[in-house]
Order: sequence, then structure tokens, then C-alpha cells
Amino acid sequence: MSQDQELQKLKTDMLGAIESAPDSAALESLRTQALGKKGKLTEMMKSLGKMEAQARKEMGARLNEIKTVLAKAIEARGRVLGAAALNEKLLHEHIDVTLSVRPQDQGRIHPITQTTDEIVTIFASMGFKVAKGPEIETDWNNFTALNLPPDHPARQMQDTFYMPQKGDEPTVLRTHTSPVQIRTMMNQKPPIRIIAPGRTYRCDYDMTHTPMFHQFEGLVIDEKTNMGHLKGCLLDFMRAFFGIDDLPLRFRPSYFPFTEPSAEVDIGCSRKDGKLTLGNHGNWLEVAGCGMVNAKVLKNCGIDPDKYQGFAFGTGIERLAMLKYGIPDLRTFFEADMRWLKHYGFVPLDIPNPALTAAD
Ligand code: PHE
Repeated sequence: MSQDQELQKLKTDMLGAIESAPDSAALESLRTQALGKKGKLTEMMKSLGKMEAQARKEMGARLNEIKTVLAKAIEARGRVLGAAALNEKLLHEHIDVTLSVRPQDQGRIHPITQTTDEIVTIFASMGFKVAKGPEIETDWNNFTALNLPPDHPARQMQDTFYMPQKGDEPTVLRTHTSPVQIRTMMNQKPPIRIIAPGRTYRCDYDMTHTPMFHQFEGLVIDEKTNMGHLKGCLLDFMRAFFGIDDLPLRFRPSYFPFTEPSAEVDIGCSRKDGKLTLGNHGNWLEVAGCGMVNAKVLKNCGIDPDKYQGFAFGTGIERLAMLKYGIPDLRTFFEADMRWLKHYGFVPLDIPNPALTAAD
């Protein structure tokens, strides 16, 4: 066999072996054989020194070419073997990332918590931030700053629990979440866009009133905010919250000392055979109070009413929960009856997702 034939044979043999290497270990030993320091090609390279110049040049080029071909073949086979090994692994190695459902027979989410979460989620999607205030509030924040001076008759409609005086300041259990408006405007520069859910107190107790109840307040202050924004905001919210796309809203002129003009908000319903159904049915049900923030209130908080204006609204959370989830008696919310909670409460895994409705 001529040297050339010998080289050709070496090349085809090696290529054959490389292409059929069963695994990466076999391939690795072929690499050493072919290209390693003690490999055949390296041996032949070493003998080049003894050759004539012309023959050395030709032989050197030939050997290098074979080296390149073999190296490429090894690399290609390596890729194939690597992919096969990965597939094999994927096929046989399983990790179970599911967690078995936790027992749900204990504990419930109270409808007030659930409803508050839903309300906050919807307003958050409209860019509102949550604001909070204390339940024991100064008389000034709860009444006076909201344009309800000490002798104002509207104070009587919100008769509350009067707390011991703190220094010069009389304090009360807040009768509404509106003092959070004052706190926010005193501490924050416009633009303002907040939602303030929380507990409120009044001296009432019957089917639709408990001495402690929940409200949420909304406040938006900016340079060009108008009544149209107020209407659009509440319309979007009510439709998202109740999940009724064509729920109509009616804004009825009303009076609140802290808004001017003021309105009461009704949603559409029917009352056929004593059964209340929400929707576009020709009848109306009151659900919220609202209006454009009174310029006097803005001034009381150090905001220039010639530059800024805005709107506010307030709603009872229990009322919304009762309407949405068909709970007939307000008092039952706070009786801590486990049977009631089991019936009307929520388990974490079946929380209806208000965010989806809001995003529609
Ligand atoms: N605070 C009022 C109430 O409790 C509701 C309200 C809030 C009205 C904001 C107008 C603006 O009845």
C-alpha cells in the first residue's frame, strides 16, 4: 500500500468509527487516537522532519486536511450524542412540581375581606393607590376640615362614639372614611389618586345598620379632573365589580358638605316579587355618595382650588357584598357564627378573579 493509500484508509476508518461511536466516552477515546499527542496523525507529523522539502510540504498539507476533517466529524458526532443524552434524560427524569391541594375544610375568607380585595384590585387597575387612616380620628379630620363645623346639622346624621379628649383635640370613632381624604391632601401634593377602605362607626343598629361597618373612599385630585371623570370611573368600577357589562348608573343630585356639586349614585335593578336583581331593569338602588371636592375642603388642606380640582366618592362595603353575594342581613356579618361563615365565606382557591373582569 502506498503511503497515500494508507492515509486514505486511516481517514475512512477513523471517520467510520467516529460516526458510529456509541457514546461520548467512545468518542473521546477516538479523539485521543486521532488527534491526541500519541495519536496516529501526530506520530506521522513527527516523521515529517525526515522528509524532503517538497514531500514534507505535500504530506504536511495532507495530514492537516485529514486532521481538520476528523476534528469536524468528532464535533458533529459529539453534538448528536449530546442531544441524544439530553433527550434520554428528559424522558426518564421527572420532577413533580405540583403541590397537592391543601385541605379546605378549615377557615374561610370573610366576605368583607373578599369584597375589599376585589374593590382594591379593580381600582388598582385604574391606577389608584391604597391609603389608610386611624379609626380613632380627630374631630377636625372627621368633621371640621370636611366643611362640617361643630354646629352643622349634618353632624347629627353621623352620630358616633365620642372619645376622651386628647389634649385640646376632641376625638371620635370616625363616622366615614372621608377623613382619609383630609389626611392624604394634607400630606401629599396633587396629582392624587387614592382608594381608602376601612372600618367606620355610627350609633345605629337594625337590619341595614351596625355600629361598626366598612366603607371605602376614593379621591382624585388633578388640574383638569371633572365630573365626567367621576362618572366614568364609578361606571367602570360598578360594572367590573358586579360583572354586569350594561349595568346602568344614575347620578342623583344630593348634598354633602365636603363636595360641590354632590350626587348619590344608583345602580339599575328590578324588584319583581320582592326579589332584587341587578341590571338594566328600570328600577334603581342607591349605592354611593360622591361629588366634586368642595373648594373649602381643598383650602382647608392647603391645596389651591384655582389650580386643582377633583372628585371623591364613598360607599359601604357591606352593602356591595350583600348585593353581589346575596347576603340578606347586615348584622350577620359580625356575629362570628361559624355556620354563616362556612356558607358565605370564601376559600382561597375559589376566589373569583376580579382582575379578569376589570381588564375586560
Ligand atoms: N362620606 C360620605 C358618607 O359617609 C360619602 C361620601 C364620600 C360622599 C365622598 C361624597 C364624597 O355618607
